Amino acid sequence: MRRYHLTTFGCQMNEHDSERMKGMLDSLGYGEAAERSEADLILFNTCSIRESADTRFVAHLGEAKRLKSEDPSRVIGVGGCWSQSLKEKVFEQFPFVDVAFGPGQVHRLAEFLTSDSLTAQGYFEFEGFTGHLPMRRARDFQGWMQISVGCNCVCSYCIVPSTRGREVSRPAAELVAEAERLAADGVREVTLLGQNVNSYGRDLPKGEKTTFAELLALVDAVDGIDRIRYTSPHPKDIREDVVRAHAELPGVCPHIHLPLQSGSSRVLKAMRRTYNRERYMDRVALIRELVPDCSITTDIIVGFPGETEAEFAETLEVCEEVGYDSAFTFVFSPRRGTEAAELDGQLPHPVKRERMERLVAVVQRRARERAQRFVGRTVEVLVEGPSRTDPSRLRGRDRHNKTVNFEGLTAVGELAHVEVTSATSTTLAGEERLLSRIG
Ligand code: SAH
Ligand code: SF4
Ligand code: F3S
Repeated sequence: MRRYHLTTFGCQMNEHDSERMKGMLDSLGYGEAAERSEADLILFNTCSIRESADTRFVAHLGEAKRLKSEDPSRVIGVGGCWSQSLKEKVFEQFPFVDVAFGPGQVHRLAEFLTSDSLTAQGYFEFEGFTGHLPMRRARDFQGWMQISVGCNCVCSYCIVPSTRGREVSRPAAELVAEAERLAADGVREVTLLGQNVNSYGRDLPKGEKTTFAELLALVDAVDGIDRIRYTSPHPKDIREDVVRAHAELPGVCPHIHLPLQSGSSRVLKAMRRTYNRERYMDRVALIRELVPDCSITTDIIVGFPGETEAEFAETLEVCEEVGYDSAFTFVFSPRRGTEAAELDGQLPHPVKRERMERLVAVVQRRARERAQRFVGRTVEVLVEGPSRTDPSRLRGRDRHNKTVNFEGLTAVGELAHVEVTSATSTTLAGEERLLSRIG
């Protein structure tokens, strides 16, 4: 049997795409190799969101090159956003690569593998949804659903519009059928994926138009799906109907990831985010009003070109005010082909690092403070496996998307009720309560 090894970098959409790649390779009769050195087919699903993502991947590619020189019959394939952003240049820079493809061309990998092609092949059109391919899930009880691909925004720092193309939504009926299949297969938690989930459905033909809030209701109505998550909404167009869905639909989890990027309206404008600080804070107020206990998490970029100390201080102010349950914080990284990479006022690295440290301190303190509201409450945890630090304990996530480590007996993939005894900025700890109410 021929064997493959796949390494995945980047976001949840890439994790989803990799599950589909694995499903497709299964159906071609490939088996999975535990080590890269044991594989006939060495695959990478790449990311290019920041320079660090490129660097990390290129080091792995070096190992693949060495393995191929030991055994030239090995095939090396590179998919994903890095590949898409370089296209044919992949073969100029890395001549040992046999096949390169973008996120819209995963299905072509099968074509390449079943052909007798001896020359390197590149596939870079934006055409299919990976969501149409067979899947092999990492976890039986959790599933991704790709509701749309691409992004029509023009955030000046971001490479994604060029690597994923224009936004295209999948019809709601197709997604409901997929949710039903997942539920029948034992999935209890689904995560709906899109670059900007709020704009889901706008591109669908008349008669099939469905809003994101309507899609949430349709998935919520599928029997067996206990939890619905999604990522990411864009603050410019998260509307009341979506926030209400969190209050009214039992399956929709009380967690909203609302990427801020910057607290300064001037910087937001230069980022082409199309909202300002006030409008962002209005969205937060709406969430707090309709779903008071909702977790709010975010993404923040520090050191955007031209960001002054006073503008950075506004980001700190917003973090103080909102009190995020957690935040992904990034140092601005100039990306090829983006507007922001060419802007004047690129900041020196030490300035970016120093701001990052101050930001992380505020984010962590506020997250720790926020997390104290769970202490003494009993939360519902979907068990994912043993605790990473103490294998005698269990680990899972609650409906607010907090990681919970606890003493208990519930099996992986089942729901446990855990009384929270302590909370840090990132995790809750507690003990399982066998017959208790969820608070
Ligand atoms: N579509 C999602 C974001 C996907 S990228 C959204 O708009 O919410 C994930 C995060 O990476 C972004 O939210 C941003 O904070 C960060 N990011 C994107 N490009 C970046 C860059 N050039 N430098 C630093 N961080 C970046
Ligand atoms: Fe990038 Fe902006 Fe699109 Fe998100 S919304 S993927 S940050 S261009
Ligand atoms: Fe995701 Fe990275 Fe592409 S974050 S969309 S895999 S550039």
